[in-house]
Order: sequence, then C-alpha cells, then structure tokens
Amino acid sequence: MQRRVPIALCLIAAALLGGITVNAREAATTQKVWLSDLDISKTQQGWGEPHRNSSVDGHPLRIGGRAFEHGLGTHADSALYVQLDGRGRKFTGWVGVDDEVGRKGSVEFRILADGKEIYQSGLLKGGDSAKPFDVDVSAVKMLILLVNSGLDGINFDHADWADAMIEGVGSKPDTVHAPKEEAVILTPKPSPQPQIKGAKVFGVRPGHPFLYMIPATGDRPMTFSAVGLPAGLRLDSETGIITGSLPDKGEYVVTLQAGNALGMVQRKFRIVCGPRIGLTPALGWNSWNCFAGAVTAEKVKAAAEAMISSGLAQHGWTYINIDDFWEVNPGATNDPTLQGPQRDDQGRILPNPRFADMKGLVDYVHALGLKIGLYSSPGPLTCGGCVGSYQHEQQDAERYGEWGFDYLKYDWCSYGQVAPRNPKLDDLKKPYLVMRAALDKAPRDILLSLCQYGMGNVWEWGAEVGGNSWRTTGDITDSWGSMSGIGFAQDTPAPYAGPGHFNDPDMLVVGKVGWGPSLHNTHLTPNEQYTHISLWCLLCSPLLIGCDMTQLDAFALNLLTNDEVLEVNQDPLGRQARRIAQEGSSEVWAKPMEDGSVAAGLFNRDEIPRTVTAKWSDLKLSGKMRVRDLWRQKDLGTFDGRFETEIPRHGVVLIRLFPAE
Ligand code: GLA
Repeated sequence: MQRRVPIALCLIAAALLGGITVNAREAATTQKVWLSDLDISKTQQGWGEPHRNSSVDGHPLRIGGRAFEHGLGTHADSALYVQLDGRGRKFTGWVGVDDEVGRKGSVEFRILADGKEIYQSGLLKGGDSAKPFDVDVSAVKMLILLVNSGLDGINFDHADWADAMIEGVGSKPDTVHAPKEEAVILTPKPSPQPQIKGAKVFGVRPGHPFLYMIPATGDRPMTFSAVGLPAGLRLDSETGIITGSLPDKGEYVVTLQAGNALGMVQRKFRIVCGPRIGLTPALGWNSWNCFAGAVTAEKVKAAAEAMISSGLAQHGWTYINIDDFWEVNPGATNDPTLQGPQRDDQGRILPNPRFADMKGLVDYVHALGLKIGLYSSPGPLTCGGCVGSYQHEQQDAERYGEWGFDYLKYDWCSYGQVAPRNPKLDDLKKPYLVMRAALDKAPRDILLSLCQYGMGNVWEWGAEVGGNSWRTTGDITDSWGSMSGIGFAQDTPAPYAGPGHFNDPDMLVVGKVGWGPSLHNTHLTPNEQYTHISLWCLLCSPLLIGCDMTQLDAFALNLLTNDEVLEVNQDPLGRQARRIAQEGSSEVWAKPMEDGSVAAGLFNRDEIPRTVTAKWSDLKLSGKMRVRDLWRQKDLGTFDGRFETEIPRHGVVLIRLFPAE
C-alpha cells in the first residue's frame, strides 16, 4: 500500500526542492499535443512553406480521399527537429502525399529518435491511402521528422504529417534548428608558382571571334606564351588573352606556357575548330539567384570585375550572364527604370534604362577577358513579365550578335500561352529550334541554354535542337531540400550529357543570395555546400555562381576555386556521373575521367553521420587504387576492393581513384 503524503508536506517540499517537485507533479498528467501546435516554422523543406493544419499549397489536409483536421503540410525534402528531452511517450498519426497533387509525387517518411530510425513509411505515392504510425518515444531526447523525395526528385512531393500527435508529460516539446556547423575550409591555397588551370579543350566555329583567357594561378606579374598557336590567333603575353579567329575547321594542340618570378609551367590545350561549341560545361555567374528583378548594368559590371579581382577567372570562370530584367517590363509601371519603348521602329529589342549601353557593357566584359550572356523567352513575356522574343526571334538573335553576346538563356515562361494547350514533343522543340537557327546566323559563337524545367524529358532531345545545356528541373532555392532533391534526381538524364550539351540542374546557391534587393548568406550548411558543388561537378552541370560576386567570403571562394574539384566538371570526356550505389540515405555517384581515373562522390543525405562505402565492384574497378581526396587535395592511401569513410550529416567526400603504381 502506498503511504499518502499530506498536501501541506508536498508544498513544503516543493518550496524546498523547487523544480524537481514541480516536475514530479507534471509527470502525473499526460498531455497530448498536436504536432501542428508546435513552432513548425523551423521545418526545413525543399519547396514552399510549412503549413499548420493545411497542405503546403494551403488546402485542407487530405490523403487518399481521407480528410484530416490537424497536421503539418510540408514538402520533400523536409526535416523538423523536435526536442523532447525525455518528456515524450508516444507519437502517432498518419502520413502520405496530399491529394492536391493527384497521382503525382512520391515520398518516404522517416522518424529518427536520438539518431536511430524508429519509423520508415516506405515509398508513398500520390493517391495512396494515408498510412498510420504509432511509435514509442519515451526517453527520447531528439526526434527528427523527415520526408525524403526518394530518387525521383522533389516535384509534387506535397507531404502531410496528418493528425500527428505527441503524447507526453511536462511542458510542450520545442522544435529546434538543425545543429550549426563550423565553416571549415578544406582546400589548401594554390601555390605561388605558376599553374595553368581550366578546361583542356575549347571549341570554336570557323571564322568566328575567338576569345580565351588562359586561366593560371600563381604570383603576378605573370607572362604567357603559346607554342603551336594556329595562324589567325594571337596571344597577349601580359594578360594571357587569346583573340583572333580560325578560318578553317581543324584540331590544334597548343602548348600554353605561364611564367612568373618563381618559374614556368606548360600545359597542352586542344582547340577544336568546327561546328561544336561549349565542349565543357560553362563556368560563370548569373544575376538571378542574387539580384533577380533588381539587376542593373552596374551590378553586372561589378560582378565581372569581381570575377577578375577575386581570382576566380584564374580557375577558368568565364561567363557573366544577365538573367531576366534587362528588358522593358510593361507591367512594372511604378518603376521608371523598367519602362520605355520595348522595341525601336524597326522592331529591334531595346534594353530598359538600367542597361542603356548594352554594347558598352559587353565590350567592357570582353576587355577583361571574360564572356557575357543574356536572357529571353520565346513567349511574348519572360517569367518576370519583361518583353520576350515572340515573333522577333531572328531580330533578337541578330541584336544579341551585334551587341556581342556569347550566351543566351532561353526560358519557356509565357510561351505556354502561345503553344498548343497540351504541347506535343514537336511543340516543345519548336521555339528552341527557331532560336538556335537564328543564333547560328550571327557571326559569333552563342551558347544556347534551354530553360523549360525538364518538360517532355528535354534531356532526350535538347542536343538535337541545338541546346548546349538544358534545365532538367524547376528553380533551385538555397535549402537542403531543394538542392539535394534536385541534385540527387539527376541520374535519369545522365546518359544524354556529352561535350557541347549538358544537363543543367540549375544555378549555384552558395555565397550571398537573395533573389532581389536584399541578400542573405545561403541557408545551406557548410557540408551541404560541399555536397552541392561536388554533385554539380560530378553531374557536368554548367556552373553558374548565383551569389553577389562582390561579397564572396573565404569559404565561398574556397568552394569555387578548388581546381581538382573543377577538373571533375571540366573533364574533356564530358561524361556525367551516375548513381552507382545507394543504401538508405547513402549514395555513391561516379564518373569516368579522360585519363582513365574515376571521380566519385560518397554522399550522406541523412541527418546523422553515416559510413558510406564505394565498392570497386560498383565502380567497375579492380585491383589496388590510389584514392585522392579532392577537397583536401590529399592522397588518402592505397585501397583494394573498397573505400569507406564516415560522412557527416548532408556531407560528402569527393575522391578520385587512380590505379596504384
Ligand atoms: C524562371 C527561370 C529562372 C529565372 C527566372 C527569371 O523562373 O527558371 O532561372 O531565369 O525565370 O524570371
């Protein structure tokens, strides 16, 4: 029999022992808390915002025809950290894809308790019935609620934690942010000795202006020379800029040389004069992810200057691309800098007042040894509502050529209003065929970047319509869910990438980004940023820096200037990495390199550290291999059969495997 303690005694004890007794009293009552009544704003997700008691699109929660009153509407990839500190007892509810996406979308729900998986839903698809879960969370300190996009990307992955309820004792659980990470710079600084960097192959069309600045690191002043430079080309020995033009088709192997007070180096460089351009993925900057509608000519000029002054150009970074908002925006009537005549009396496109001297801007960027790009849409309006190229394609291409542009991003946008309602493959191809043909009439090389978010499996025909790259996805944002959801869904398009035509999983989100006038540091953690750059290099994606170039910090600069990492992207074979192994949230992606070595990324998509293994049998290798860590630029030793290592949350180890001597 239990002895009853008089209430008065309890009160005295409470006064003496403070919290302990209060806790004891709380323990007597079990409370039920809807997950949606916690602070769900700390949910990280790949798209949209977390919603309380409604789907990510704001509709009442509904899974497989069943309505739910309470719950968290989120979007893969999603993570919410719930701090229970032992106060929880039970976590119950239903999971599934919200009915608002119909039969689209596929996700997997997981629950981690202090790093251990205690629930996994298996793959749930749009239209599937809601799946109940009921897990014991007693003694758990930290619960992590995860929604993974699976292997097929994040499109339509509207995920509901429906009627999700935590039973427990004591005060309501808190939601917290994922642990902070220190931004560790892994890569040693380039040596002061001269070293030639960048792509080893370069394509140009006969008779077209040639512009190439030899990328080289090392102390300045530096002098450049070239042995075997074909007639028609000349090299400025002080700047390392090669200009001129090649009259005839052909391949030329040139020996580039760079010297400074500490020595001299040389490297072979292959110039291929023929129809194909963009033989390696474009390396550059684009205004959208930082400035979006706030771009100006001054900001573009500053980006070009920073490309030089930051040293990025010494690693092969070349393009300065103006995205949307250089044109007049008929709808933005309250912004005089976006107003003005849209075209001249002959129908030729006119820039808005922010870009009053387009030719001057282009010449300025070229004089720095860099190239420059711009943006348009085959529709009447661009995605931002500016003037597009519809029914002016030839004229616009001519104009870009006259101004001297080297790159066009051509974005579907309002073309949807012009194209047939349910566009067939030919309808999808048409605007790009038209623009490619128009650009080909210009007397210069203009890369064509297709942007239509992957419609009609664009990777299957992007090269055929003359695209040098094609976006395979919707727009990226600086969240783990968005970046990883996009990046790890790039296996299907992989076989279609090759020299001159690459898959484009969208632009980089490292550094200070913001899509408008105000910028913030990327929301990706340091490890997520290493994953982002490693993956995009393995994917042979165009690398277009999306941050304010004038505010690059040491960490961002390090991410973008590791030549061994960039070499994976710029390898002349142009073969995109495939996912060669996957186990839970661990993935290994690998690509063959021209020299017979293999580049591989060991990725951990989980919230907790994991050991990831690259097996020779998956890599199609045999025998002893020398393994080099590319971020640290350090040999890790000789391995046989497998290489395995522990990878932090959302992190990567990027390696290159060479046959051991
Ligand atoms: C679309 C594209 C973006 C950007 C904007 C500009 O959303 O996908 O990359 O170019 O348009 O409006």
